[in-house]
Amino acid sequence: MGVEIRVEGLTKSFGHQVIWQDVSLTLPAGEISVMLGPSGTGKSVFLKTLVGLLRPDRGSVLIQGQDVSRLREHALYEIRKLFGVLFQDGALFGSMSLYDNIAFPLREHTRKPESEIRRIVLEKMDMVGLIGAEGKLPGEISGGMRKRAGLARALVLDPEIILFDEPDSGLDPVRVAYLNQLIVDLNAQIDATFLIVTHDIASARQVPDNIGLLFRRELVMFGPREQLLTSDEPVVGQFLNGRMQGPIGMAEEKDAAQVEQELAELDAGRHTGPRGGKGASGEGVVPRLLPSPGITRSPRWQAIAEREEMAALRARVADHARSRRSARDAAEEVD
Ligand SMILES: Nc1ncnc2c1ncn2[C@@H]1O[C@H](COP(=O)(O)OP(=O)(O)OP(=O)(O)O)[C@@H](O)[C@H]1O
Ligand SMILES: [Mg+2]
Repeated sequence: MGVEIRVEGLTKSFGHQVIWQDVSLTLPAGEISVMLGPSGTGKSVFLKTLVGLLRPDRGSVLIQGQDVSRLREHALYEIRKLFGVLFQDGALFGSMSLYDNIAFPLREHTRKPESEIRRIVLEKMDMVGLIGAEGKLPGEISGGMRKRAGLARALVLDPEIILFDEPDSGLDPVRVAYLNQLIVDLNAQIDATFLIVTHDIASARQVPDNIGLLFRRELVMFGPREQLLTSDEPVVGQFLNGRMQGPIGMAEEKDAAQVEQELAELDAGRHTGPRGGKGASGEGVVPRLLPSPGITRSPRWQAIAEREEMAALRARVADHARSRRSARDAAEEVD
């Protein structure tokens, strides 16, 4: 059923360069969370710290009562079996076939016979649509296929926690849509705890339970999707809309006066409000991507689907009431 990860007061620097400080958040068991942030804010460093590949300066990463940041090699090796990780560059072994790449964690971490390994590898390759490409080398296939091979490899140990570093970068929009559906279907089937780093705002809006944003060496916000999508926090609004106006600049931080002016201009043309309103993030809450028909839904996903249906119904009723009001107003004007 996935496991919770509790991050408390995490700080990481390389030499004098502080990457982020005092990051605290909880990835709830079995939920999907997305981490956003401008390039270079340390998202990949954050994922590597969660698996214990990098050690933080301060703070803790608590999983099943153990602090990953303080574990010794052997205990770390054990706890890593809980994780499936898709690194940003795919990190496939170039001289191994896709089959052997995907079988690698099973051969490394388990004593399963080759017949069992074969069954698992083919099942995961089927899941990501790679059947038929078993014998190919990573250099012989497209970037999208390499991503999916990395995904299959991240899944073979039936992980409780899945970390994806930009699973969608370099994919065309149709493949991104398929990948998002695959992520939601996987979550509905295996109920692991997911953390996905992405720059794709449309995915961030419709896939996760929770969204976080790293900026200027801090975690600006982490919370339920609806909370960030309706947030009036300028950085959150700028990022979720991919706007130039706001605190995030091309290279370094903008000066305060310029940010003030840009935000005032934006404000002039925008309707803001609390939950249900559009907030600084423009479009407001978009419908959530649900598991494909035919995928058995866990009680958690059944509840999400029911909430989504209710929200859609309320939106239709509100729409209807609005159009009746404007028809009545028009009729009164004519009178
Ligand atoms: N092993 C390392 N040693 C020293 N500095 C590092 C190391 N790994 C990362 N950094 C630095 O940490 C910062 C954050 O890097 P990171 O790769 O986590 O950014 P990111 O948010 O993932 O960016 P992108 O969106 O471009 O992938 C960068 O300035 C990078 O140079
Ligand atoms: Mg990165």
